[in-house]
Amino acid sequence: MKVEIVPLETLRTRTSEKWTHFPPEVLPMPVAEMDFELAKPIKDVLISMVKNSDTGYMGDTGHLNRHFAEYARDSWNWVFDQEQFFLCTDVSVGNIEMARTIVLPGDLIMVNSPVYLNMFNWIQELKCEVLDAPMRKDGMNYTLDLAAIEAGYKAGAKIHFLCNPQNPTGSVHTRAELEAIADLAKQYGVYVFSDEIHAPLVFAESEFVPFLSVSENAREMGICVTAASKAWNLAGLKCAFIITQSERMRDLAKSMPVSVRYRASLFGAHAAAKAFESTAWLASLMETLDANREFLALQLQRKLPKAIFRIPNCSYLAWIDLTAYELGENPSDIILNRGLLALTPGYLFGPGCEQFVRLNFATSQEIIVEGVDRLVAALS
Ligand SMILES: Cc1ncc(COP(=O)(O)O)c(C=O)c1O
Repeated sequence: MKVEIVPLETLRTRTSEKWTHFPPEVLPMPVAEMDFELAKPIKDVLISMVKNSDTGYMGDTGHLNRHFAEYARDSWNWVFDQEQFFLCTDVSVGNIEMARTIVLPGDLIMVNSPVYLNMFNWIQELKCEVLDAPMRKDGMNYTLDLAAIEAGYKAGAKIHFLCNPQNPTGSVHTRAELEAIADLAKQYGVYVFSDEIHAPLVFAESEFVPFLSVSENAREMGICVTAASKAWNLAGLKCAFIITQSERMRDLAKSMPVSVRYRASLFGAHAAAKAFESTAWLASLMETLDANREFLALQLQRKLPKAIFRIPNCSYLAWIDLTAYELGENPSDIILNRGLLALTPGYLFGPGCEQFVRLNFATSQEIIVEGVDRLVAALS
């Protein structure tokens, strides 16, 4: 099963955020949607549901819990109880609804910037306060700063939104780091919400470690929130899930309103169940993304030698430092206006990231060339 690239003229007929937010003269490379055909088993299940007018409320999930459990066991050697599996609309809603069982307005929630921009919005939605323990930066290598995390836990963080692996830096946290976080979480009574939506997209040179797999402390203090939506491009189908692995966290998950499950979509559940079986398609995707990350690095090196970019160890998001081009307060605005290229502005990922942009390379190499050429045009 090979990944098929969708031509630009067909992409432009899509109605999703990526393809409708900007006017047609703009090349969109921001939001994390992929420019590929869906895996065939996913298309087939969706088509057959439509043919059968099977468009009702959430019911049978197509054994999504079993398919994910098998995928997690085979990919990461992680075994969990399939009964401690809680459906939700999407990863954002999963994090927010679980957080509501713990926090009160004004409580502190930790993030590690630069980090997935909506984590800041989730905290705002919860009427809580952001406690940032920024990643430690060495060149373009970002790692979790355990001392800053401990200081934040000590300062009263109630929850830690952990991006595992990290968007936008492409860092994959190590087992030792995750074990240390679990121990600190237990010591200070902090709940760790491990957002593992990018986990199936970790490249072969790195090992993805599910947070709940690292220790008893992790299982007692943590949850996993994840979905098939990033790796199989199903964001619009609205289905994600929370996994717990202790009585304490299971009881919290059970205390969420029953509506959390029913707000997920039947299409999303069946598509995700097929996704976690579609590992040959995923392997082909990873080959494509692996070639694209190298290709992008070469393009940038050749055409924009002052841009600083480290090939990410996961996913399809390139985190690019444009400081040397001196583009003022918001480089992505200039790139949009002068180069007709839409990228995600760095400032959304946290303080100190103003000179960065994030570029989505889950696309054809022709579009990557066009994107880099537009970037060059904007900067020259
Ligand atoms: C780390 C992370 N979490 C969550 C999401 C959004 O997930 P959902 O659409 O399921 O809310 C994204 C989207 O890119 C993401 O990168």
